[in-house]
Amino acid sequence: MRRALLFAAALFAVSASRVAVGSDPQDFAQIERGRYLTIVGDCAACHTATSGADFAGGRAIETPFGTIVSTNITPDRETGIGDWSNDQFVSALTEGIRRDGAHLYPAMPYPYLTKITRDDALAIRAYLTTVPAVSNAVTADRLPFPLSIRADMAAWNKLYFTPGAFQPNSGKSDEWNRGSYLVEGLMHCGACHTPKNTAGADKDSERLQGGVIQGWFAPNITNDQRRGLGRWSLDDIVTYLKTGHNAFSAATGPMAEEIAESSSKMTEADLHAVAIYLKDQPSADNHSPVPLPAGDPAMQTGAAIYADECSGCHTPRGSGIAGLFPRLAGSPSVQSDDPTSLIRIVINGTRSVSTPAAPTGPGMPAFGWLLNDGEVASVLTYIRNNWGNAATSIAAERVTSQRKALVRTSE
Ligand code: HEC
Ligand code: HEC
Ligand code: HEC
Repeated sequence: MRRALLFAAALFAVSASRVAVGSDPQDFAQIERGRYLTIVGDCAACHTATSGADFAGGRAIETPFGTIVSTNITPDRETGIGDWSNDQFVSALTEGIRRDGAHLYPAMPYPYLTKITRDDALAIRAYLTTVPAVSNAVTADRLPFPLSIRADMAAWNKLYFTPGAFQPNSGKSDEWNRGSYLVEGLMHCGACHTPKNTAGADKDSERLQGGVIQGWFAPNITNDQRRGLGRWSLDDIVTYLKTGHNAFSAATGPMAEEIAESSSKMTEADLHAVAIYLKDQPSADNHSPVPLPAGDPAMQTGAAIYADECSGCHTPRGSGIAGLFPRLAGSPSVQSDDPTSLIRIVINGTRSVSTPAAPTGPGMPAFGWLLNDGEVASVLTYIRNNWGNAATSIAAERVTSQRKALVRTSE
C-alpha cells in the first residue's frame, strides 16, 4: 500500500519537477536520482571511515601535504549537515566554501564537482537527508604549516580553481557530452589520473595522462596507443569499469575501490558515455621509445626470472588469461612512465577487485621476500621491453627507495 502511494507520488513528482525543478526533499524521484548520483560521485568512499557509519566522516585522506580528515555529511544537526541550507550545500560542492565561510581543501574534489548542475547537487542533498543521522564530531585535519592555514586556499583557488558549471560542446554528440560531464565533474577521474604540480593542483596541459596517488600510479587514460587506452575498445572500457576486469587489466588499489563503490553500480548507458569521451581524449606526445635490446644484461636477468616466476600465470608470451591473469604484452600500465604501481605490485602482491559481475578477484602473489631490489628492477625492465612493449628501464635504487616507503606505510 505504502509502496503504491510512493509510486503515485513519484509519477506526480516527475511531471511536477519540469516546473518546480524538484527541490522538495520529499520528492521520491529526486531522492532516487540523488542516490544514483551519490554513487557516481563516490561520496561514501571518502566520507565513510573504515568500519564507521556511512557518510559519517572521519576517514583520513592522504595528500602530498599532509592528512585531511573527511567530514560528517549525514543529516545530524550538530555534527553533520542537517542544519545546512541548500545554498550552503551547493557552495561546498561547487565552490569549496564551508558553511562558516572558510575554504575547504581540494582533498574534497570541488575543483571537479563545480561542474555539476544545481539540480544534480540538490538531488544529492535530497538523498543525503534520507540516510541515518549519525553523531560523529570529526577531529581537525593535520596539514603542516603553511597549508594548515585555510585562508591560503583563497590564493590557491585564485591560481588553480576555475569555478563554473559544465558547458556542453555543441560540436559533439549528447553521449560525448554526458561522458565529459561525468569524467570531468562528478566522477572526478582526473583527481587521480591527472598529474599534479608542486601546489597539488592539476597540470591542465597533461589532463588524464597519469598521476601518482597514495603510493600508486593511476595510468594514462587518454587514447594514447602505448601508455593509454588506445588499444581498448569501448566495450573493453565499459567491462573494466563495470567488473574491474577485462582482457587487458585487473583493477587494484584505489581503482578497485572506485569500481566496487561506484562505477560497478552505474548504468551501461553512463559507462558507455564515459568510454566515448575517454576514447576521444588525445595524448600529448606520441613518440615511441625504442625497446631495450634483448642482449642488455638487465633484459637477460629479467628474462630468466620471468620464465621461472611469472610465466606460469602471465604465460611465456605475456598474453595472460582473460579474466584471470592480466595481459602484460601491450599493457599500458606495464609501460607507464611512472613505475610506482608496478614495483608495489611485485613487492607486495595484490588482490584485484571483486564485483557482482566478476565475484572472485584472483591474486598476484608477493615477490618482495624472494627477489632482491636488482631482480625486481630487472624483471620489470624485461616486461616493459619485451613482446613489442617499450618503456624506460628501472634502476635497483628506485626499487630500494620504494621498498622503504612501503615498509613505512605498513607500519
Ligand atoms: C576524494 C575524497 C572525497 C570525495 C570523493 C568527496 N568528498 Fe566531500 N570532503 C572530503 C574532505 C577531505 C572534506 C573536508 C575538507 C576540509 O576539511 O577542508 C570534505 C568536505 C565536504 C563537505 C563540507 C562539510 C563540512 O562540514 O565542512 C561536504 C558538504 C561534502 N564534502 C560533500 C560531499 C559530497 C556530496 C560528495 C559526493 C558528490 C563528496 N563530498 C565527495 C573528501 C571527499
Ligand atoms: C582514487 C583514485 C582514482 C580515481 C578517482 C579513478 N582512478 Fe582509475 N585508476 C587509479 C589507479 C591507482 C589505477 C591503477 C590500478 C591498477 O594498476 O590496477 C587506475 C586504473 C584505471 C584504469 C586501467 C588503466 C590500465 O591501463 O590498466 C582505467 C581505465 C581507469 N583507471 C579509469 C578511470 C576512470 C574512467 C575514472 C573516473 C570514473 C577513474 N579511473 C577514477 C586511480 C583512480
Ligand atoms: C599465481 C599467479 C601469478 C604469478 C606467479 C605472477 N602474477 Fe602477476 N598478476 C597475477 C594476477 C592475478 C594479477 C592481477 C591482480 C591484480 O591486479 O590485483 C597480476 C598482476 C600483475 C601486474 C599488473 C598488471 C596490470 O595490468 O595492472 C604485473 C605488472 C604483474 N602481475 C607482474 C608479474 C611479475 C613480474 C611476476 C613474476 C615476478 C608475476 N606477475 C607473477 C598473477 C600472477
